[in-house]
Amino acid sequence: MEFLTPDKTHDESRQGEALVIEPGEKNNGRKLYIESYGCAMNFSDSEIVASILAEKGFETTGDFNNADVIFINTCSIRENAETRVRNRLKEFAYAKGKNPGMVVGVLGCMAERLKSKFLEEEKLVDVVVGPDAYRDLPNLIDKVDGGQKAVNVLLSREETYADISPVRLNSNGINAFVSIMRGCDNMCSFCVVPFTRGRERSRDAYSVVAECQDLFNKGYREVTLLGQNVDSYKWSATQLAEGATEVVNFANLLEMVALVNPELRVRFSTSHPKDITDEVLHTIAKYDNICNYIHLPVQSGNSRVLEIMNRTYDREWYMERVDAIRRIIPDCAISTDIITGFCTETEDEHNETLSMMDYVQYDYAYMFMYSERPGTLAAKRYADDIPEPIKAVRLNQVVAKQRESSHYRLQQHVGRVDRVLIEGFSKKSDKDYCGRNDKNAMVVFPVQEGYKPGQYANVLVEKCTSATLIGRIV
Ligand code: SAH
Ligand code: SF4
Ligand code: F3S
Repeated sequence: MEFLTPDKTHDESRQGEALVIEPGEKNNGRKLYIESYGCAMNFSDSEIVASILAEKGFETTGDFNNADVIFINTCSIRENAETRVRNRLKEFAYAKGKNPGMVVGVLGCMAERLKSKFLEEEKLVDVVVGPDAYRDLPNLIDKVDGGQKAVNVLLSREETYADISPVRLNSNGINAFVSIMRGCDNMCSFCVVPFTRGRERSRDAYSVVAECQDLFNKGYREVTLLGQNVDSYKWSATQLAEGATEVVNFANLLEMVALVNPELRVRFSTSHPKDITDEVLHTIAKYDNICNYIHLPVQSGNSRVLEIMNRTYDREWYMERVDAIRRIIPDCAISTDIITGFCTETEDEHNETLSMMDYVQYDYAYMFMYSERPGTLAAKRYADDIPEPIKAVRLNQVVAKQRESSHYRLQQHVGRVDRVLIEGFSKKSDKDYCGRNDKNAMVVFPVQEGYKPGQYANVLVEKCTSATLIGRIV
């Protein structure tokens, strides 16, 4: 079961969402349809892809039936993510049957994992493009127009698309994702990301700040800085003047972005327990506009399991980092990711995950059954030996515990006044606004004159449902 949480990193409600942008200055008369799966990085990459093709005159469409080019930006993290894409391709095959000139391309992590095998397995696919090769898309499309199939899955040590400012016109104009790094060097044994996204590299700090400033000038009021492990962000500029070298770490970058404007909220994801420093925590504590919310995936509460997951921290280390968060940032929300039924996990070891949940009392969690991924260290070294029904029982226990804990955390807000960034009308009624507080909890309250989306409101929280706070502006 994948849980919907407000930071949208694996937001179920956005899976398969199509990106539609305002037409650029050029128009080549061709229409692009692009939809995305997986994490926020993929959603952010689709914006880069749309920017690159808008430059070449492509217009986006929200209806794949009248597209000239269909792109599907894919995820490989669990088997079900891939199954979903395969099923979606069947629907595209039908559209292509009616319009044989249509170009169908697979982008993202599945493209990188399967490479040219994709062309053999799925006959309708014309182009396969990995996450570091998007600048090559116009050439690849030309190749397909010339009657060939095209593949580019080269990974890069440098590509960060730093100079491409993404177009984001179907967003709400208030929250934006800003990618600060790509790839991952951690090699957690269960994970495909190091294989599909390549080596870790950090983006030019000044291009990040410039993008955030530009977003602020356009009316955006919240940025989420994205990376698989933001705490290992490290960028150095060799300045020509006297050859001075400046090194920017994640704490420095957070501060630079916080200083763009006090009215710009700053979020970030994902923090790694082995790398999150006190310096980062002090920076969060120092600036009111850096949200008191940390996504700190634990994966398991047992040290032996963490060891074979190759997470490089143990139970005690993780608890110490949680203590440090509580000490340095009183009142900080913490969310997590948990995997149940990893190879060889015993009942006692699973119970340690439950006791970790009691210890931290997470505000939110994304919870998954272990899904073996071909090519990963775990697939090579350990048997996927926990039967599916046991994985499911353990998952249900984790989910039930999280439900209680989320509710407990939400209830702490009742009676308090929270500063909420208004994002728009609530899903249920245009008489209510919705927005999130500093801790990323959704708050719903009656529309009041003088307040508009993109503004902050002080909301007295009067009650809560299982996932939402309800109140009124004071
Ligand atoms: N970089 C992040 C996680 C990115 S993947 C981190 O290090 O925490 C998001 C989550 O998917 C992971 O935290 C993990 O809980 C889950 N996940 C990754 N591979 C998985 C697999 N093979 N089976 C089940 N869940 C998996
Ligand atoms: Fe995967 Fe681990 Fe990297 Fe996260 S830190 S992306 S779980 S390898
Ligand atoms: Fe993200 Fe899925 Fe790739 S979680 S990095 S899109 S495998």
